Amino acid sequence: MHKLERLRKEMLALDVDALLISKPENRFYISGFRGSAGTVLITATQAYLLTDFRYIEQATNEAPAFEIVRTGQPEKDALKDLVTAQDIKRLGFERDYVTYAGYEGLKKRLEETQLVPVEDVVRKLRMVKDETEIEHMQAAANIAEAAFQEILPLIQVGRSEAEIALELEIAMRRRGAERLAFPIIAASGPRSSLPHGAPTDRVLQPGDFLTLDFGAVSGGYCSDMTRTVVLGEPSAKQKEIYDIVLKAQLEAQAAIKPGLKGGDIDKIARDIIADAGYGEYFGHGLGHGVGLQVHEGPRAGRASEDILEPGMVVTIEPGIYIPDFGGVRIEDMVLVTDSGHKNFNHSSKELLIL
Ligand code: GLY
Ligand code: MN
Ligand code: MN
Repeated sequence: MHKLERLRKEMLALDVDALLISKPENRFYISGFRGSAGTVLITATQAYLLTDFRYIEQATNEAPAFEIVRTGQPEKDALKDLVTAQDIKRLGFERDYVTYAGYEGLKKRLEETQLVPVEDVVRKLRMVKDETEIEHMQAAANIAEAAFQEILPLIQVGRSEAEIALELEIAMRRRGAERLAFPIIAASGPRSSLPHGAPTDRVLQPGDFLTLDFGAVSGGYCSDMTRTVVLGEPSAKQKEIYDIVLKAQLEAQAAIKPGLKGGDIDKIARDIIADAGYGEYFGHGLGHGVGLQVHEGPRAGRASEDILEPGMVVTIEPGIYIPDFGGVRIEDMVLVTDSGHKNFNHSSKELLIL
């Protein structure tokens, strides 16, 4: 079903005459418009994209199914004129995106209209990807994987986290990444116990773990993967925790199929880590959906009731983080299919000794 049709079905259930969409990822998802300013207005029969002078030509090209309406003209309120002309009485807006000031502004402009705060319905639609979206995500994953393989020889004693992160970023950009999906995480030695350690000037030492968490964007869609490597022979404890995380990652991933709850998958990994005695060192959720944003629905953490459906994409990223020692995380991105799942990643998850 076309994205607009799916949205209109959701709007019927919400009992609104129209829906205002201003969150950039949602605006792009519904309209195809990639500009940084604009609002989409959807009614039962019409689809408008309101934007200012800077974006009129771009919007016309990128959102051919939408009527483009120019905003920002003096003495004219394009939104108010549309709401009046279309006789919109109940207007939905994104309650988790519109700020209080934004709401006050709307209320003042649209005195006659009932403003209805709605849950992010587009977020719900975005959870299930179509073929084109999956192709973009595979392209984004391929860029990240190839870049990682390319920079492996640079991961050496004497190089800094920041240098390695920069090389990884350049390699992704050179291979076609539109941008990074998020700032690269590069945490080495004892710092690898920081789940989201930003790269520093710390220089790699013999025996260090190095955790790299990174992703590319292609066609607007993100990828997300993590590998932990070790510089030289691992100690017995390093090997022990790596093997536990790997087992948790592999078993949780192998279980993925439609009908399971996010929380069920989390439990598989969490039980393995807890049974090995490291439960207190795995303090975050197992994974999350990925798409236009690196973190989106469905959730795959402890309490998640989100039910996996074919077309959903989730990460599986267990970790063990021990302060003053170091940590390990291994992360792949997985597509839920009719019969089970398919992995976007192909890089080995065995401990890489560099
Ligand atoms: N990059 C953060 C995460 O893996 O969720
Ligand atoms: Mn990640
Ligand atoms: Mn992730």
